[in-house]
Amino acid sequence: MDNPYVCFDDMIAARRAEASRSILVQVQSETSLPDLYNYCCKFGNIKMLHYYSCGQNNFILIEFSETESVKAVLEFGTHLETEPVIPVRSPLLWFRTNKKKIKNLSRADNVISAGSIPYSSQNLQMPDNEELLRLLRDCETVSDQMMTLYLHSKLNDIGSRLRFLTARQIELMLCGVFPHIQAIPFGSSVNSYGKLGCDLDLSLLLDDITVNNNSRLVFQAKTRLNKRTSVQRQMEVVADLIQLLLPGCSHVRKILQARVPIVKFNQDLTFIECDLSTDNTAAIYMSELLYLLGYIDWRVRPLVFTVRWWAKEVMLTNSPHPGHWITNFSLTLLVIFFLQRENILPSLDFLMKTAGPEDDRVTEDGINCTFLRDLSKLPQPEQKNSKSLAELLLRFFEFYSTFDFATKAVSINLGTTINKPEPVAPMFIINPLERLLNVTKNMNFEETARLRIEAKNALSEFSVNAVHETFNDKKNWGLADLTRNQKKPPSEQYFSGLLKTPLKNGKRLVRVEELFNNTVENEVNGH
Ligand code: GTP
Ligand code: MG
Repeated sequence: MDNPYVCFDDMIAARRAEASRSILVQVQSETSLPDLYNYCCKFGNIKMLHYYSCGQNNFILIEFSETESVKAVLEFGTHLETEPVIPVRSPLLWFRTNKKKIKNLSRADNVISAGSIPYSSQNLQMPDNEELLRLLRDCETVSDQMMTLYLHSKLNDIGSRLRFLTARQIELMLCGVFPHIQAIPFGSSVNSYGKLGCDLDLSLLLDDITVNNNSRLVFQAKTRLNKRTSVQRQMEVVADLIQLLLPGCSHVRKILQARVPIVKFNQDLTFIECDLSTDNTAAIYMSELLYLLGYIDWRVRPLVFTVRWWAKEVMLTNSPHPGHWITNFSLTLLVIFFLQRENILPSLDFLMKTAGPEDDRVTEDGINCTFLRDLSKLPQPEQKNSKSLAELLLRFFEFYSTFDFATKAVSINLGTTINKPEPVAPMFIINPLERLLNVTKNMNFEETARLRIEAKNALSEFSVNAVHETFNDKKNWGLADLTRNQKKPPSEQYFSGLLKTPLKNGKRLVRVEELFNNTVENEVNGH
């Protein structure tokens, strides 16, 4: 069903190597495949062609066997004499039609023979809602629905390739100044919870300070005065270079005052939105931790996908912009915590205790990111939890519909709740790697309450029967049922309605007020 477990570092290294052997070529249509294949064979052995389209645009990603072939392509590539362009060379190209050749070709020459050309064709985007609902309706159980949702929405091979190629384009631009620069994808592009079309979080690792005591030749260098200011200035320059020079990159925005300064931009040829930061090693290790947890039990990823999908459907995560609502990252941590309570996942402290010296990692800022990385060394839990996906989903809704966010903080480190370090924070998820920080610092009381309300709604929508029985009556049922009431966006009245007045459909909704009353009561009891 899924690829076998490959450790995170090996996966990243393999994807980066693959990107260094690849070029992306815009073509007229899928029928250009044989022509492009024949043309590119002269640069080296081609491992695979990957075709995709987006709207009217057609692309073929070519993976060669050797990086040298890409160098040869870039050496031989051309600009157009007729266009006043900046002469940048990047692995993103387009294939001009050979008018002479087209005349001489019979149609048969352009028919792709599956046997002769190593070729794949994949989607970049999720199936549309209608198609997804059809797929869900056709399933036999809720657990099947969850698996179907996961398999149809997870990031596919071409999605990963394009993300690493986008990173490669930036590396190539900066490698003159920093020969060992790495642009490392993190977040959902690599943590195994990414869906088709997800954004690309990238961190630039400029270069290690090389100390070679045997060398008498020392690099002339500029002194860095203040790390934050220096990072902000670098990001500013990188943003300008991307804007001015990189083909396909547009809509560059600098967000340099954030805790982690970032540059946002779109890569219009790979259809990816990027968030670029510098030296964000803790976030890379966080992605590694999530990746690892996703491989410990086969149910983790389908459950995370379902919860993230549900949250989007009920508009808990309804905006691409940051705000007071819960993020996908926080939701993932909530699922992980729940699975720790279910004895399916170990605590981070346990992974730290079982780590060996080879797992020692501390960031430049002193953040300890040591945890077991070799899953074959992970002891199995004494009691095995064999609940189905559907049972777990139901338990998840139950768990968080009554969760005491008022007094308790979620600790992935311990795998248990602790008393909230900051009572004023509506929700507190301890940042697993920087334990003094709250991952849900952005959330307000309304959004915290809404999470509990929607979990309660889901629980009542999603009757216990749905978990055990099988349905195939071609109507919306199970997961598809969770989407049914969510067609309209929430208006201001929706929120004020939730806050002040009882709702018409009393069966489904619990008032925020009631939850706050509970919360207040809990607080009173707790002291
Ligand atoms: P989507 O982009 O929504 O698909 O999910 P994502 O997991 O990529 O989340 P996002 O792009 O918001 O963040 C990227 C990564 O940055 C996460 O996976 C985390 O590793 C890290 N990250 C995001 N938000 C926080 C936060 O509040 N605190 C910390 N410490 N790390 C965060
Ligand atoms: Mg992301």
